[in-house]
Amino acid sequence: MAESRGVTATASAEADTEPSAPFLRACRGLPAERTPVWLLRQAGRYLPEYRALRERHSLLELIRTPELAAQVTLMPVDAFGLDAAIVFSDILPPLQGMGLELDFVQGDGPRIGNPISRPRDVDLMAVPPAEETMAGTLEAIRLVRSELEPRDVPVIGFAGAPFTLASYAIEGGASKDFSRTKAFMLSEPATWRRLLTKLVTVQADYLLAQARAGAQALQVFDSWAGRALGREDYLRYVAPHNRELFASVSRAGVPVINFSLGVGAYLTDAAACGGDVVGLDWQLPLDEAWERVGFERPVQGNLDPAALLAPWRELRPRIDDVLDRARGRPGHVFNVGHGLVPQTPVEHVRRLVEHVRERTSA
Ligand code: CP3
Repeated sequence: MAESRGVTATASAEADTEPSAPFLRACRGLPAERTPVWLLRQAGRYLPEYRALRERHSLLELIRTPELAAQVTLMPVDAFGLDAAIVFSDILPPLQGMGLELDFVQGDGPRIGNPISRPRDVDLMAVPPAEETMAGTLEAIRLVRSELEPRDVPVIGFAGAPFTLASYAIEGGASKDFSRTKAFMLSEPATWRRLLTKLVTVQADYLLAQARAGAQALQVFDSWAGRALGREDYLRYVAPHNRELFASVSRAGVPVINFSLGVGAYLTDAAACGGDVVGLDWQLPLDEAWERVGFERPVQGNLDPAALLAPWRELRPRIDDVLDRARGRPGHVFNVGHGLVPQTPVEHVRRLVEHVRERTSA
């Protein structure tokens, strides 16, 4: 396992030599020296050093400035010794390059100033290359990679799945029932297909560019399809596009994580869309979800992030429960089953990472 440590692998050699980092080993279903752990939204608002930076810069400024994005990416890795770094960005900035006006409103989440409402809006959407529109994030990946390479900590790139991005583009922001999105999908099916095809083109190009910039794994977030749609609509209006996205991105030569939130009713269908690793949300017990996906497929998850708000005496057995259900099988990446919330005590993140490490080290 240690033979490649310290040796700088070139991007093309990475695909054929066995990685040493526990996270990359688990992503390939290989045994690792311990269960790797990283956390969704690990670099967010629960960190005082992040909040201090946010007082001086807007979210989009942090994302668009490579040195600042790299700094935020490294904060939780340095603080807790996590097994992977996820580049600091958001799923929505690529929409700016397509012509949508994006802003993050304090306390109110993302806002699109000119949401899509007619077929013509979809025709007018641009499909520019990520090298032009997401250059800041690509540069942040290069900076983080060169910083973390000597420590053998891999960098994860990410993007949103087409339904989740379409929902923001059509609703103009967050939504509870996705009624505009579903009305559009059901009344304009041909335009819907064109919209999702454009989004897949942009996201696939962006993910491949992130791998070229140095990302050693890629995660696709489909946060809202599972919440918005029943199985039949998912299979008809979403799955073909997700399949196309995963098929394109499989050319990157790095593991791809398919994180589809809230798809318990059709987890096997969502997993079948593609990706090497299946990201599990917190709703099903890990062993039951893993069995449905198939134990030969690596999984990532699945502690309820709200457990970190509980006292340690309640949090610890819940961490142990996830580990017990994984039973030390190769191919488990420990994670939360959705993003950490801003109220998360920093001390609980530290203890979680330490505990997973101590309990699973050989
Ligand atoms: O450390 C990391 O996890 C990397 C950074 C990251 C952010 N957003 C930064 C962010 C990642 C991976 C995301 C993904 C993302 N963004 C998703 C998919 C994952 C999920 O949670 O389902 C979604 C749906 C979004 C869209 C989004 N961005 C929302 C709904 C909001 C507002 C609500 C919230 O959680 O704050 C954001 C803002 C956002 N993205 C923040 C951060 C750190 C908070 C902004 C701030 O600093 O004020």
